[in-house]
Amino acid sequence: MKKWNLAGKKALVTGGTKGIGRAIAEEFLSLGAEVLVVARNAADVEEFVSAWKGQAVGMAADVSSAEDRMKIALRLKEWGGLDVLVNNAGTNIRKKMWEYAGEEYRKVFELNLFAGLDLCRLCFHLLKRGSGGGAGDSGASVVNIASVAGSVDVQSGTPYGMSKAAMIQMSRNLAAEWAEYGIRVNSVSPWYTDTPLVEPVLGQPERLERILGRTPMGRVARAEEVAAVVAFLAMDKASYVTGQDIAVDGGMLAKGL
Ligand SMILES: NC(=O)c1ccc[n+]([C@@H]2O[C@H](COP(=O)([O-])OP(=O)(O)OC[C@H]3O[C@@H](n4cnc5c(N)ncnc54)[C@H](OP(=O)(O)O)[C@@H]3O)[C@@H](O)[C@H]2O)c1
Repeated sequence: MKKWNLAGKKALVTGGTKGIGRAIAEEFLSLGAEVLVVARNAADVEEFVSAWKGQAVGMAADVSSAEDRMKIALRLKEWGGLDVLVNNAGTNIRKKMWEYAGEEYRKVFELNLFAGLDLCRLCFHLLKRGSGGGAGDSGASVVNIASVAGSVDVQSGTPYGMSKAAMIQMSRNLAAEWAEYGIRVNSVSPWYTDTPLVEPVLGQPERLERILGRTPMGRVARAEEVAAVVAFLAMDKASYVTGQDIAVDGGMLAKGL
């Protein structure tokens, strides 16, 4: 019988020490999962793991480094497998397109897209199940944290929007390719969410007013509101949901005028 929890699941959350990733890791832990959090700052990783002693493990690594991604894959094997992969770590450099140096937009792509793609590939053999994910089976789940910027222009910079659009399509393609291995793949697209990443934007009163004016619910999201949707997608309760992009946006994408 499928339950509204994540008991018995092992999950990797990249960027799990701050913002949306931290909220996802904490939601998973409170639903009974074991979680491996990855972030670059070792002290933050240590702080997180000691706050969730016994249930959380951590690793300081840069997911935009191929060498570190290999280390993560080795660590997962030693850990005894993987049921849920959350590609959350992301970044942005906001500029007009002509102002970017080539290495700047490549950096955005490297973390927001290629890191997640490579982790999907490296984790495939750990995630895959023997069957095609029948109604009673406990399947595996990949959730990629994209953005509404992958669907419409929100003036967050062209490379960011491109990287998130590619991540949404990557999720659809992998969903179709990996269904026979019992792996569901979805993406979640937040609109503005109160985290350190967007503090500089939300701190500008004029910009904030425009953002709220574009949001039917009239407020930005809390990271926990994004985490709740990710947790549902990670659960066996979502066993027939794959290839979807779910916006957590207070109605923003639905609004025309
Ligand atoms: N906040 C929003 O409004 C919003 C809206 C739409 C989409 N998103 C997406 O949601 C995701 C999370 O955003 P956030 O706002 O929570 O970001 P955040 O507050 O900046 O937190 C990012 C987390 O990722 C880690 N991280 C960054 N670069 C990393 C790397 N190369 N390797 C490993 N870990 C790394 C950071 O820790 P270290 O610095 O220690 O590595 C931190 O734990 C991103 O993909 C972002 O694009 C956010």
